[in-house]
Amino acid sequence: ARAVMIDCDPGIDDMMALLTICASPELDLRGVTTVGGNVGIELTTRNARSVLALAGRGDVPVAAGAGRSLVRVPVSAKKGAHGDGGLGGVVLPEAPGAADPRPAAAFLAATVAASTEPLTLFAVGPMTNVALFYAMYPQLAARLDRLVVMGGSIGAGNMTPAAEFNVWFDPEAAHRVLTDPGVSVPTTLVPLDVTRRTGLVDADLAVLAGSGRVGALTARALGGYRHGLGAVTPVHDAVAVLTVLHPELVTTQPARIHVDAGYGPSRGNTVVDLDPADGPTVDVVVDADTRAVVNALLDRVTSLDREV
Ligand code: BDR
Ligand code: CA
Repeated sequence: ARAVMIDCDPGIDDMMALLTICASPELDLRGVTTVGGNVGIELTTRNARSVLALAGRGDVPVAAGAGRSLVRVPVSAKKGAHGDGGLGGVVLPEAPGAADPRPAAAFLAATVAASTEPLTLFAVGPMTNVALFYAMYPQLAARLDRLVVMGGSIGAGNMTPAAEFNVWFDPEAAHRVLTDPGVSVPTTLVPLDVTRRTGLVDADLAVLAGSGRVGALTARALGGYRHGLGAVTPVHDAVAVLTVLHPELVTTQPARIHVDAGYGPSRGNTVVDLDPADGPTVDVVVDADTRAVVNALLDRVTSLDREV
């Protein structure tokens, strides 16, 4: 199995991403780190631990990271899309035990150092922890096999007209990770353009709801998460995980990313140059067989109910 870690801010679609990893025998989950984003760091950490426990993976260590962005605290009048608790009104039982005492960046470093196999890191929240990991432990970060990021947008954003949420929340961190990492880590960017099209329709939510306890709780959490997009519920972060499980379902193109970390109205914008004169910095997912991706995700998450 491929050794993986995930840095996340659960978050409804983060929940779906975590469950997809737990349901995938091809992936060996070595640890989870949390970042403040969709909700504060206490809640994202609590939610990550609860979701793992729900999936029967309470043994996976969870280490909490940054509670705020590196340089500037983002301000928005928009109401949180994930509800007060982060999981769309679903409150999962608190997991027994405690989080790992190490800060996320130190945990990532120690996990890479201890691994005999290369590790893939998924980053599906603001990139604060990953930027700190790169800055503090460049030699260990360079041992990552791949970084897979859900974030950014070729076209419009979802937080502002220009910016996707994860980049908007901490543009300086995103700049560090996507443009000027200081270490050579093969990186895949799964942007909003593709993830917002890869949504669950009512029939999909019904399949989840009927599968058992895990599926029913997931369907309830997802139910409120529509982003004004009509009948489709996006599962952004889970699409990033599926990209690794089923690369044949997506189209990828090399590109150079410029992150706008200025203080104007396009702060957090990602300029995606698909024909870069200076050479690419990342691989960008530009298209997906969205129906096949959703089917694969449903298949995996419902399998958790077949196991218990
Ligand atoms: C991203 O922002 C968050 O709200 C989601 O969890 C996802 O990671 C989508 O823009
Ligand atoms: Ca997220």
